Amino acid sequence: MDLGLHDRACIVTGASKGIGLAVSRLLISEGARVLMVARGEEALRAAAAELGAEWLALDVSRPTAAAEIVAACEQRFGGAVDVLVNNAGRAEIKDLDELTDEDWQRDWDLHVMASMRLMRETCPKMAARGWGRVVNVSSSSGKRPSGSLAMSYSVTKAAQLSLSRAFADKYAADGVRVNAIAPGMALSEGWTGDGQLGDQLSTRLGIGREEVLRSQGARSPIGRALEVDEIARIAVVLCSELASGVAGAAWSVDGGTWVSIV
Ligand SMILES: NC(=O)c1ccc[n+]([C@@H]2O[C@H](COP(=O)([O-])OP(=O)(O)OC[C@H]3O[C@@H](n4cnc5c(N)ncnc54)[C@H](OP(=O)(O)O)[C@@H]3O)[C@@H](O)[C@H]2O)c1
Repeated sequence: MDLGLHDRACIVTGASKGIGLAVSRLLISEGARVLMVARGEEALRAAAAELGAEWLALDVSRPTAAAEIVAACEQRFGGAVDVLVNNAGRAEIKDLDELTDEDWQRDWDLHVMASMRLMRETCPKMAARGWGRVVNVSSSSGKRPSGSLAMSYSVTKAAQLSLSRAFADKYAADGVRVNAIAPGMALSEGWTGDGQLGDQLSTRLGIGREEVLRSQGARSPIGRALEVDEIARIAVVLCSELASGVAGAAWSVDGGTWVSIV
């Protein structure tokens, strides 16, 4: 099947690692042009060079970031943005009563405000041209708060789902498809990296990192954590021509973890 992504101008945030890197790789393999965004320049530059993508190193939660990203994309690809993947995000292991105001604000700025500003910059122009795709990478924790991840993560991921639906409704009649995905546990650097979620839970539970990754993954109906490509493939379908009939969805990509018949 032709995904219809050839020459499409795409922005992927959180693109230097994990799910965002896998999404960028798949988009490039479909002939799309990709602007990869993350903060850390070294990893981003290396990833973009390997894929043949453009890159821009900045913190997407800064108020001016969205305008800078869209301007860079338009200038480097010589036209408007076709596809936006709001993927940048962060999680940590922290009890509800340990979370500070700063923790809540930081997660709000990253998961909600950064996604909102990028959609506000891109969706009207997509609508004017009659075609566009936005994928907001939320989380299964946005559908049901996680028992282990910080509640500021779950709550702002729920807000990101609501935000996604709001933009979907506003722009659906103009050819713009805004959707979200709600991944379950995937073995990205965010789980496997030094000091990341695997290590944080390891400290809390008093078991090794490998045992944490195995036992947390085993809690899902398919019995294992996902690979990042298993998430990225679904995101890229939603970026494509094939998603013409999908708007305002919040697709679970979680190995069956979300318990619902609807
Ligand atoms: N992996 C999972 O199990 C899982 C499950 C559900 C949902 N998700 C969601 O999927 C998305 C990707 O997760 P992942 O596990 O692939 O993450 P990851 O491996 O930790 O990678 C995160 C990416 O986002 C970038 N990033 C983080 N904060 C940023 C900021 N303020 N501005 C710009 N870029 C930023 C990171 O680069 P820099 O640090 O250099 O900026 C990196 O490229 C997140 O939204 C996450 O919440 C993941």
